[in-house]
Amino acid sequence: MNNFVSSIFIFSSLFICVYAKTPSFYRHNEPRVIGGQDAYSGQFTFAAAIYTQTPDTRFFCGGALLSTEWILTAGHCVNNGIIFTIKLGSITLNSDDPNRVIVASSEYVLHPDFNPESIENDIGLIKLRLPITLTTYIQPTTLPIQPLYNYTTVTVLGWGQTSDYDPELSDNLKFVYVASISNAECRMIYGSQISDNMVCVQGNYNQGTCTGDNGGALIEYLGRYPYLVGIASFVSANGCESTNPSGYTRTFPFTEWIKSVIDI
Ligand SMILES: *[C@@H]1O[C@H](CO)[C@@H](O)[C@H](O)[C@H]1NC(C)=O
Repeated sequence: MNNFVSSIFIFSSLFICVYAKTPSFYRHNEPRVIGGQDAYSGQFTFAAAIYTQTPDTRFFCGGALLSTEWILTAGHCVNNGIIFTIKLGSITLNSDDPNRVIVASSEYVLHPDFNPESIENDIGLIKLRLPITLTTYIQPTTLPIQPLYNYTTVTVLGWGQTSDYDPELSDNLKFVYVASISNAECRMIYGSQISDNMVCVQGNYNQGTCTGDNGGALIEYLGRYPYLVGIASFVSANGCESTNPSGYTRTFPFTEWIKSVIDI
């Protein structure tokens, strides 16, 4: 558990990586196979890229558009933020895209019980200065109508760095399918610090999935409708090299709090 907290600082940017299992002695020599699929334009119209500027540093997070004015992200992504630069409407970060909109904001609401040590209540909201105009490529997502159950297929997405050794973000938004695991199973790896308001996700055992798109969305499809069931919160201190699950803040237990803040 010692390294649990430090992990969010090590992996302060968002990444999705899937790699073939290789013997450990190969790991540092062999470039890993980076997986996840490229998202297509318009696939995740709620996905926000957030550059957070604090008094000390600048870092990248994901987020999800919840309404024309509010973006949901992780608490540690807004904590101490002075200015947020937010990109919406494009699956790419930097390639030319006429659908991209870039806005800035300084207003955020951090969950009052956010605990940076235990990473409990790792949830926060950013308010845009003006309501954004919705387009084919910019649409809000929906809060869940039911809890996220154990061993459900979910989708994680992000622009995060694609390997432990490559601090660069991916220009193209990537996504990968994983499963929610039970908190009992996750506690066997991370201990009792896994609270009921967290959920861990993991890929196939023969694949090894590592996700750490801090602040980014965890999506469950019910029919064809995506629901925002989680927010990326932490990854194992062992990093992408490990097959340890990654941790998310469940959104369902926070729906009343979110609604009280954003007034929907
Ligand atoms: C999910 O797993 C937990 C143990 O972590 C268990 O207490 C709970 O009953 C399970 N939920 C369902 C719906 O089976």
